[in-house]
Amino acid sequence: MNDTLEIEFKKARALFPVTAKKKGITYLNSASTGPLSLPVKKALYDYYEMTQYLEKSLIDRDAFASLDKIRKMGAGIIGAHADEIGFGFSTTFGLNIAAFGLPFKKGDEILLSDIEFPANVYPWLALKERGIKVILLKSSNRVFDIDIFRRSIGKKTKALSLSFVQFFNGYKNDLIEIGKICGEKGIYFIVDGIQGCGVEAIDVHKAQIDIFSSGAQKWMLSPLGTGFFYIRKELQNEITFPFASWLSVDWKLNFTDLFHYDLPFFCSARRFEMGTYPYAHVFAMEAALNIISSLGVKNIQSHTHRLLDILIEFLQSDKRYRIVSSLEPKHRSSILSFTCDNAKEVHGSLAGNKIISSFREGALRVSVHLFNNESDIERLTKILSIK
Ligand SMILES: Cc1ncc(COP(=O)(O)O)c(C=O)c1O
Repeated sequence: MNDTLEIEFKKARALFPVTAKKKGITYLNSASTGPLSLPVKKALYDYYEMTQYLEKSLIDRDAFASLDKIRKMGAGIIGAHADEIGFGFSTTFGLNIAAFGLPFKKGDEILLSDIEFPANVYPWLALKERGIKVILLKSSNRVFDIDIFRRSIGKKTKALSLSFVQFFNGYKNDLIEIGKICGEKGIYFIVDGIQGCGVEAIDVHKAQIDIFSSGAQKWMLSPLGTGFFYIRKELQNEITFPFASWLSVDWKLNFTDLFHYDLPFFCSARRFEMGTYPYAHVFAMEAALNIISSLGVKNIQSHTHRLLDILIEFLQSDKRYRIVSSLEPKHRSSILSFTCDNAKEVHGSLAGNKIISSFREGALRVSVHLFNNESDIERLTKILSIK
């Protein structure tokens, strides 16, 4: 990392109160919830301050310009166009657009992996009522197996829905290779992006993804209830979502003359958004995405992987620990999971020392973001090395 970038990361760290020395917290848990930064808190505060008086309308030119800007920033993070991005409230929302909006019919088959986070399973299982079959592909050594996937595609297969990064072991799927197979076989490719979006580089066009959805509450460092979905431009007309919103048509910012029931829906992903926006949280998301975009996702990824290199080196040098995550460069992410004989106890002891991590599927899960630095990893390894 060059000196200028190092300074930028230092400055960014200072924006996160969770890193303040006096708190004594070492936060290694963005895969669970991203901590809020000062600019995010300010955006929330400013909004609530303003809404005490409501001197101006909440739906005005400025608000809509901000919404456009945020869609554009979201697009920038995943390599999409702004008109392919819409605001969701969670990962689940975009996955439901896929499950209930794509033209599936009785007898069709949807492929998932048997190690998906439930958010990417239940919306699909709900399709069973319509006679659509959901197949959970067997993972190999707890990772998605591309060969099994390839062999499982049959005449009835219509879609694959998969995580960008697997939540419990941080395995980053090779979306380019998987997307290529989906493209060749003519099946929809849907991605649950939340465990990578904002921290791992991705190009949804290159990966031939049809629908991508991510909550912003983890790696996009935004309040709960925020997120966005991506719908490939050419696909937008194929979707018949059972919900529709009055804000999905173009009022040309004229909200004084509303008895128009004949306005066409937007020709963009915005058409699948749902009603009035939670502005406070959405503007807070803008502040968070500003931090991410100004550092750049590629730089953030290099930063987090470099920090995890230090942890990996330590874990490999101490016989008590076994790394659960893949160490193959293309499958690494900003999550590292490892275990030991008394893993749960170790997790408790970290928590007792204010080192915040998660315990998932029998392993400790450490997740590292842009505000973390070497001293955080040093604190962690210090506790882990206690005999
Ligand atoms: C892979 C994955 N998908 C989805 C979610 C959450 O989904 P939602 O944003 O809809 O609550 C999580 C974690 O909370 C997750 O790890």
